[in-house]
Amino acid sequence: MDISVSARDVNLYYGDHHVLKDVSFDMNSRMVTALIGPSGCGKSSFLRCLNRMNDFIKSARVEGDIRIKGKDIYAKETEVIALRRDVGMVFQKPNPFPMSIYDNVAYGPRLHGIKKKEQLDEIVETSIKGAALWDEVKDKLQASGLGLSGGQQQRLCIARAIATKPGVILMDEPTSALDPLATAKIEELIRQIKESFTVIIVTHNMQQAARISDFTAFFLLGDLVEYGVTTEMFTNPKDKRTEDYITGRFG
Ligand SMILES: Nc1ncnc2c1ncn2[C@@H]1O[C@H](COP(=O)(O)OP(=O)(O)OP(=O)(O)O)[C@@H](O)[C@H]1O
Ligand SMILES: [Mg+2]
Repeated sequence: MDISVSARDVNLYYGDHHVLKDVSFDMNSRMVTALIGPSGCGKSSFLRCLNRMNDFIKSARVEGDIRIKGKDIYAKETEVIALRRDVGMVFQKPNPFPMSIYDNVAYGPRLHGIKKKEQLDEIVETSIKGAALWDEVKDKLQASGLGLSGGQQQRLCIARAIATKPGVILMDEPTSALDPLATAKIEELIRQIKESFTVIIVTHNMQQAARISDFTAFFLLGDLVEYGVTTEMFTNPKDKRTEDYITGRFG
């Protein structure tokens, strides 16, 4: 299997607070990896290590080794802007920019120097199609992204994330603010985009993790308790704590 992201002995501190403890595992290309675990166990923090969003948090200190496609993302020569282009992120709350649908999706490509209208048109169309939103917005690309429904806004954010053709897409509870229908659309979308991207998704919904992920990582208080093939973990967890969590005994 093709390793896309590898974490070795990752420790994360916010000041004195030790939040991730010796986390080591590999996430594979063209697979969906789900991160699960009770609130506060460090899932979002781990995700933020992967595109160096924790750089924005003054008290945060990351130790250990994180490689994306073999490259040490904390190495001195790593360009953080290029890294974030290659590692896209979708957040819990849809957060379109206050601009048109078109400009939301063209934002990243423009930032990275693409100026030609035909080229931008083509990227915008492919990305919105890729996010299964095209039919709903193709006649109003100049309308504000903020005028869309929550589920449409989230698909717009996914279109924005895939527009720079990242290798890795991080999703932090992307459907927790959506209704079941919009959730089903995003899940279908995740199944499709994993053909081209490495998807790492945080979810509190065990059914969702079981439905969409190939691998699951279970975190508890900053420890990676268990990591493996989702179907195996859900049918035959090795650790009692994993079993308790996925059967709803705590969390
Ligand atoms: N910016 C920050 N500064 C200081 N501490 C933080 C910061 N962000 C998170 N923490 C702490 O790190 C720990 C892990 O938080 P994190 O948000 O990663 O958990 P989580 O697993 O994503 O939880 P949830 O399921 O509630 O989203 C918590 O104890 C939290 O209080
Ligand atoms: Mg979180």
